[in-house]
Amino acid sequence: MANVTVIGAQWGDEGKGKIVDWLAARAGAVVRFQGGHNAGHTLVVGNTTYKLSLLPSGIVTGTLSLIGNGVVLDPWALMGEIERLESQGVSITPENFGIADNCPLILPVHTQLDVMREAAAGKGKIGTTGRGIGPAYEDKVGRRAIRVCDLAHLDELEPQLDRLCAHHDALRAGFGEAPVDRAALLDELKGIAPFVLQYAQPVWRRLNEAKKAGTRILFEGAQGVLLDVDHGTYPFVTSSNTVSGTVASGSGLGPGSAGFVLGIVKAYTTRVGSGPFPTELEDEVGQRLGERGHEFGTVTSRKRRCGWFDAVLVRQTCAISGVTGIALTKIDVLDGFETIKICTGYKLDGEVIDYLPSNAQDQARIEPVYEEMDGWDGTTVGARSWADLPAQAIKYIRRIEELIECPVASVSTSPERDDTILVRDPFAD
Ligand code: GDP
Ligand code: IMO
Ligand code: MG
Repeated sequence: MANVTVIGAQWGDEGKGKIVDWLAARAGAVVRFQGGHNAGHTLVVGNTTYKLSLLPSGIVTGTLSLIGNGVVLDPWALMGEIERLESQGVSITPENFGIADNCPLILPVHTQLDVMREAAAGKGKIGTTGRGIGPAYEDKVGRRAIRVCDLAHLDELEPQLDRLCAHHDALRAGFGEAPVDRAALLDELKGIAPFVLQYAQPVWRRLNEAKKAGTRILFEGAQGVLLDVDHGTYPFVTSSNTVSGTVASGSGLGPGSAGFVLGIVKAYTTRVGSGPFPTELEDEVGQRLGERGHEFGTVTSRKRRCGWFDAVLVRQTCAISGVTGIALTKIDVLDGFETIKICTGYKLDGEVIDYLPSNAQDQARIEPVYEEMDGWDGTTVGARSWADLPAQAIKYIRRIEELIECPVASVSTSPERDDTILVRDPFAD
């Protein structure tokens, strides 16, 4: 099956949106399968920049775009995003956009709880996007979520509201907050229901029909493997599984549906929010990476932390997620550096290890072991073939391939959709 799954192989913001948009024209459907509007995916097409958080990036090319059940959906954020995209000339209709009717909703109580917890945690905060993602997933697993399909039966919502409010009222009391205003919540849900329901459908059915018809499906991951709730730098992670395997449970297609797993990998490393970051550079080199790469969060505008490429982490995330090939992005940001470092191992208690330990304290203590390479003269900006790249840049890419034990399928050389070198077509596999 010629499906493609795009996932982030670092801490998010690797350039997934650009790559999904680039592949979308050749897909029959683009599907989000986890996360929510904590994601911020940027697409640059000519003079226009699109920023998507909840809508699958395929919507810009008009490709059928579906939100799977694994996503947590804030209906008001969705409405705002659709209005914003429509004002940029993107058409979003029930013909080209659908939402799984078994998607759990992010409600105002979730956002409030997220923000209250982070404020109370002080220095120990996770540095979340404050969008209610964690609390919404907790309620899903705790079996008290309100889901998209419930919006069609709001008159029968009492027992679910009881369960949800009993839980939240106890938590809110701990923060000195008033109980949930149930009447106001119900009113808000009544107000938004018709808007959401026009797109609601059993997405698993739509996808299985597409599969029977031989449609190519492009899965769009959010965040990155190092933010995965199991495999990431726990507890400094998001609250969903971001690995490729989530495609099956988060969309309703079987485990064989992922197809070619394309890991998106930035040519250096960034992270937003708290948590360990072995190759972080808090000096002028890190500053320069941030400036050249415009490393400010798409969602929260926070400055992203920057550091050298960490081959240990990417080898690990590619293995964990079964990555078939990587799309290397932002190589152009390294133009002009005299020397470039790559992390090839960690020192922990006098020993060198070649993987990231699971324990948070060990993760914070490890020290990177680097190898150094010469940088390159000239520019990679806008290169669309290997011939356009300086020889030393090719050497850097080849060394990355070798260290992460995974081939490069494409190299991205600017934010612009078509500034990409294709090495191996993921849809052709
Ligand atoms: P995502 O969350 O993985 O989709 O990534 P973001 O959109 O949050 O962040 C990636 C940023 O890098 C965006 O501003 C992109 O426009 C930009 N970008 C993507 N690929 C490249 C590239 O190859 N070179 C440069 N300079 N910028 C890129
Ligand atoms: P995209 O899809 C980068 C980070 C937050 C925080 C942690 C938990 O654009 O790559 P959450 O709000 O999810 O509970 O926050 O995860 N985070 C991201 N970092 N890119 C993202 O998405 C992220 N989504 C969440 O900064 O550290
Ligand atoms: Mg992003």
